[in-house]
Amino acid sequence: MTGFSAQWLALREPADHRARDISLRERVVQDLEHLARARPGVIKLVDLGSGSGSNLRALAAHLPDHQHWTLVDYDPALLDAARIALLQWADEVRSDNTTLSLIKHNKHISVDFLCEDLSSNIQAVLEKPADLITAAAFFDLVAVGWLEKFCHLLSKPLYTVLTYNGQETWRPSEPTDAEMLNAFHAHQQTDKGFGAAAGPTAALVMQKLLETRGFAVSTAQSPWKLDSKDRLLIEQLALGSAGAVLETGLVSVETVNAWKLKRVQAETCEIGHTDLYARPRQF
Ligand SMILES: C[S@@+](CC[C@H](N)C(=O)[O-])C[C@H]1O[C@@H](n2cnc3c(N)ncnc32)[C@H](O)[C@@H]1O
Repeated sequence: MTGFSAQWLALREPADHRARDISLRERVVQDLEHLARARPGVIKLVDLGSGSGSNLRALAAHLPDHQHWTLVDYDPALLDAARIALLQWADEVRSDNTTLSLIKHNKHISVDFLCEDLSSNIQAVLEKPADLITAAAFFDLVAVGWLEKFCHLLSKPLYTVLTYNGQETWRPSEPTDAEMLNAFHAHQQTDKGFGAAAGPTAALVMQKLLETRGFAVSTAQSPWKLDSKDRLLIEQLALGSAGAVLETGLVSVETVNAWKLKRVQAETCEIGHTDLYARPRQF
């Protein structure tokens, strides 16, 4: 397992929610509102690599009044954390059985949790009834070969946000930034359970594959813009990047440690992400 902790996901959640591109989200919202008017009933969403449910918490307020979410992750501890976080987040809990039933922002939200390894079981997950497939901070983990299969199987609209795209600017800059970033990208492209990961190329690869299949694809930038208010996140990001670079063996330990000491104190940093919305031709 890639081993994302619930603590790390909670730390990044506010920055993730701020970073999303609002115009792209509005296009998704308009399409779902149109669908809800044409076909009253529950809007069904399947969230891939859901972690502790951040994507649901970011989107629910903007979506039609009746929503059913299926949160899919292979880490049972994160799915448990999602259940707990959603119970705390809700304005009202109607039912806490296998399926959660919640009220938040006057929306009726039911939630199922599905423990599934998407590296092997993506077909079954994509066959579930869904009006929209969603994901956040997930697709940079997968391999190009897996993306080819995913895009071939996909027949529903997809809205995926915060795919890491490799662009980073740290201030003040350091002479070793470029060397560190190259090595970090090499680490991003190691196997995260799906084969060699697409890493920073994932959004572009996915865009091309889906356009080839006739999907209408729109993308937007959604960088994290971090400053002194995000001190803990900057620190953890610097430590995590330094640790990843050390694992590659591409940069000397001395260089990594010197970079880390400076970077935990960075004044600002901008980390590039891409949001993508893809609609099949007939949608
Ligand atoms: C960076 S986290 C993002 C979590 C969540 N979407 C968010 O925005 O907070 C990536 C998520 O993908 C999940 N994941 C990684 N590999 C997976 C796999 N093979 N099958 C299912 N989930 C996987 C991880 O457990 C983790 O929850």
